[in-house]
Amino acid sequence: MSRFMSSRYASMLPYVPGEQPRDRRYIKLNTNESPFPPSPAVLAALKDENALSLNLYSDPTADALVRAIAKRYTSAYGNGEKEITPDMVFAGNGSDEVLAFAFAAFGEKGVAFPEIGYGFYPVFAEFFSLPAVTLPMRADLGVDVSAFKGRRETIVIANPNAQTGVYIPVSEIKTLLSENKDRVVIVDEAYCDFGGESAVPLVWEFENLLVVRTMSKSRQLAGGRVGYAIGDPALISDIERLKFGFNPYNISRTDMAAGVAALSDEEYFSFTTGEVAKERERLKKSFSELGCEFPDSLANFLLVRHEGIGGEEMYLALKERGVLVRYLGGKLSGYVRITVGSARENDVLLAAVKDIIKERSL
Ligand SMILES: Cc1ncc(COP(=O)(O)O)c(C=O)c1O
Repeated sequence: MSRFMSSRYASMLPYVPGEQPRDRRYIKLNTNESPFPPSPAVLAALKDENALSLNLYSDPTADALVRAIAKRYTSAYGNGEKEITPDMVFAGNGSDEVLAFAFAAFGEKGVAFPEIGYGFYPVFAEFFSLPAVTLPMRADLGVDVSAFKGRRETIVIANPNAQTGVYIPVSEIKTLLSENKDRVVIVDEAYCDFGGESAVPLVWEFENLLVVRTMSKSRQLAGGRVGYAIGDPALISDIERLKFGFNPYNISRTDMAAGVAALSDEEYFSFTTGEVAKERERLKKSFSELGCEFPDSLANFLLVRHEGIGGEEMYLALKERGVLVRYLGGKLSGYVRITVGSARENDVLLAAVKDIIKERSL
């Protein structure tokens, strides 16, 4: 660290992204990306040089993207009377940026989140000097929403939960919102498109709900960096305010074109999310047959353990066999987190796990 670094950040523990090794080719199942390429509509949009005009700044209101998101969610959940209007949508540079703005905007009284969840939440809290409270999990690694009752901090929940994939029924989210009307509830739905029911329809009823979503997992744009939030216009305008105090051109022209095009191809979205969900269920069955345990995930990953092998040992043995998964350590040191890959990748993964178990005579 240089002697010029602000003391304010000197002790901050930064987020550690999943590794991206270049020493050989791996089957990469460690960062929950989609095994499918972006939609053909995205590839076509990115070839349209006129539309991109990179010599010019991007639109600071991200109007085309915001409208496309509003239209998509209106057609999914709206009715004649209710629609998601553009002023209910904020677009960000990945949902990480959206979450960062939301923490900064609404976290003054502190932030509370489950003990096991997305590793960036405590980092954002530290970055913005927000008091952070972590709440214990249930024994089955589910989130106990009643643990938030009577607290005063802003609530942040990933649903399905990061690391475990366990989904909280939307009826419980509704109860949480009704019981906590005086603080913001941020529901991070990064993994919701693989089987969970979204809380988006609750935004008309609860002015304290901010649903954060991403195109990184279910719309094949992790490298594009497109995230968004849907909520009451007042919450959205608060986040917008912060954006204009930090990075008005947060969505590049390429990201904007890619995001709009991805939303235009609902057929591809349904097909790819359906395939991932199918493969997830196949993996669950095969892992059970191999004597592995896992919380019941509705996301595009499984948190897997085998009684006879520690998480780190499994991670290293899989890496040696060319399959990269995530070892999270800490309370999850018995587990590895495995992204659902393509059918072929999953076959290689299962063969490798079988081989590792056999090698140890387990
Ligand atoms: C729960 C959760 N939220 C948000 C993100 C951030 O996604 P992105 O910034 O790519 O939109 C991730 C990434 O893995 C995540 O797991």
